[in-house]
Amino acid sequence: MPKTFETRIASYTERVNACLDSALPLASTHPARLHEAMRYGVFNGGKRVRPLLVYAAGECLDIETSLLDAPAVAIELIHAFSLIHDDLPAMDDDDLRRGKPTVHVQFDEATAILAADALQPLAFAVLAGLQGVPAATRTRLVQLVADACGSVGMTGGQALDLAAEGRTLDREQLEQMYALKTGALIHASIVSACLMSADPADERAAALDRFARAVGIAFQIKDDILDVEGETHVIGKAAGADELHQKSTYPALFGLDESRRRCNELLDGALGELQQFGERGVPLAWLARFI
Ligand code: IPE
Ligand code: IPE
Ligand code: MG
Ligand code: MG
Ligand code: MG
Repeated sequence: MPKTFETRIASYTERVNACLDSALPLASTHPARLHEAMRYGVFNGGKRVRPLLVYAAGECLDIETSLLDAPAVAIELIHAFSLIHDDLPAMDDDDLRRGKPTVHVQFDEATAILAADALQPLAFAVLAGLQGVPAATRTRLVQLVADACGSVGMTGGQALDLAAEGRTLDREQLEQMYALKTGALIHASIVSACLMSADPADERAAALDRFARAVGIAFQIKDDILDVEGETHVIGKAAGADELHQKSTYPALFGLDESRRRCNELLDGALGELQQFGERGVPLAWLARFI
């Protein structure tokens, strides 16, 4: 195994892309326009951060890679569905994603809604098909991803995000919204690997749980900072969109300096949780810094 996680990113990315490709119906499958839109929403780019977190957590806990493909694919499918809906006119109304036209711009609004609708159950079909683990583990995995995706997870966070437009949230309310809309899927990525581990209830799982929660919130703060500071051609989405839509974000409510400070504080806390893993925690530490 090569030394740094960075050198394995390309092969993990290729691996998850191949698994996504086999999970998705061919673009020519009837109804072809729907399948084309689903594929566009998944393969229009993307850093694949969540699958990489699944594989890195797997390395940390010494889980066989073949067991990690299903959660990696399922969570990326749900992420793709969340982005398609997030960009719709009724939500963030964005035309650009990953440097390309958003799904509703490239196709049409109804097709975008349906493509996202269809990506979500596909994720659960992938989890249901996971072989090589006890049925109880598979059930817990389905439950984990369902909670992370639903009204007490990402979807609930998106509802809070929309309700917060033009309003002032306190820090706790803002971080709660971040923990749900973005943190839930990041958390599920890491915990999915813990569920495969021999003793998922041990102290190491608790440390990874805390790591995941901190990274999830930091990830959204960083995304909000990039919305202010980044350039459209680099971030692949329209810079300044949050201010335009009066989004409640860390930079808007607390300023850029405080946003950076809180992001670094969360990162330091997350890295501290990895100390007990020694060398095995290095891939997750690398990813947390990358994020
Ligand atoms: C963007 O997520 C949406 C957020 C939750 C901040 P990513 O930054 O992981 O988006 P892609 O998949 O790389 O495009
Ligand atoms: C998105 O947050 C969170 C999701 C669950 C999709 P944002 O609305 O800030 O994400 P971007 O900036 O559009 O990627
Ligand atoms: Mg949004
Ligand atoms: Mg958005
Ligand atoms: Mg954003």
